[in-house]
Amino acid sequence: MTLDEVWSRAREIMRPNCRVCKVCNGAACRGEIPGLGAMGDGSSWTNCVEFLSRVKINMDTVYESRGQDASLEIFGRRFRYPIFAAPIGGMSHNYNGAMTDRDWTFALVRGAKAAGILPFSGDNANGEQYACGLDAARENEGLNVVTLKPWADNGKLISRAKELEAAGCIAFACDVDAAGFANMGSAVSQLAPKSEAELPGSVKIPFLLKGVMTPAGAEKAARAGCAGIIVSTHGGRVIQSAPSTCEVIPELRAAVGNDLKIIADGALRTGTDIFKALALGADAAMIGRPFVVAAHGGGAEGVRLYAESLGEQLKNVMLMTNCAALADITADKIRL
Ligand SMILES: Cc1cc2nc3c(=O)[nH]c(=O)nc-3n(C[C@H](O)[C@H](O)[C@H](O)COP(=O)(O)O)c2cc1C
Repeated sequence: MTLDEVWSRAREIMRPNCRVCKVCNGAACRGEIPGLGAMGDGSSWTNCVEFLSRVKINMDTVYESRGQDASLEIFGRRFRYPIFAAPIGGMSHNYNGAMTDRDWTFALVRGAKAAGILPFSGDNANGEQYACGLDAARENEGLNVVTLKPWADNGKLISRAKELEAAGCIAFACDVDAAGFANMGSAVSQLAPKSEAELPGSVKIPFLLKGVMTPAGAEKAARAGCAGIIVSTHGGRVIQSAPSTCEVIPELRAAVGNDLKIIADGALRTGTDIFKALALGADAAMIGRPFVVAAHGGGAEGVRLYAESLGEQLKNVMLMTNCAALADITADKIRL
């Protein structure tokens, strides 16, 4: 199976909800929620695309070659690439139901494990996504970051976090930016913003807060005991007119220093984009929609092929910029 075959097959089976565009950039599906689009005018997604296109990379191949090691050590494990697969829920609600949430979650987790990257899964009102994420983690030595919704009933958030800890999950997350997410339908009333005190920072596995966009938010996450933040607007699905996620990373890094892991999320599509995110200060890059395409077109094998192609693209950019390790991908490697 080749990646081209994976994408062709996905194109046959994902319509009409996903058109499997040549470049997944938020133009064709703008405003389609339910669906895969970003909210309203789609600007929170397209702003990310536009900013990334403005970041330029400084080439330098005049150096003694030391090879390229793109591996990342995080949460006590080493990954082959600094790539995280985003939590995506609603295979029948947002997509066309060609895959169930369970099949998608297992394809993602197994493919990510084979490629040496870290997968995430979601949570929804009926509990099915949470359950299959937990099952997939159990089957794969805890290798799945279940991303809990910010349940208004805080006891539900805490008890699920403790269950993930007991199951030996590598980490868990909460997409606090879903607090007012209209796509949750009537279940939106079950969600709420979370104060520092309500966040489950004392659970003993690392906790990532997803949907942080300001230095103040990052500082609150640090005080609440988070291990990291995911700089995200849910792929532009929860608010319009947000700045590019990558654009704000330097401000967040300045606010929290190295106290928190910072994960870039939104419109990252290539190894070049991942390199830019890391040079702007991220520790890892999270990618969403294309992994769903890879799973539809080729199951776990499609996920593996796609993840490895991203990793090899990143290593090629590292070669072209005199970066032997991720620590070499510093701000001087890019220009704005
Ligand atoms: C259809 C769809 C469903 C999503 N479901 C979830 C979810 O259940 N939990 C969550 O934290 N994020 C969810 N997200 C957001 C993604 O995790 C991620 O932030 C976003 O897709 C990143 O942007 P990208 O797709 O441009 O890479 C969803 C995104 C889409 C498009």
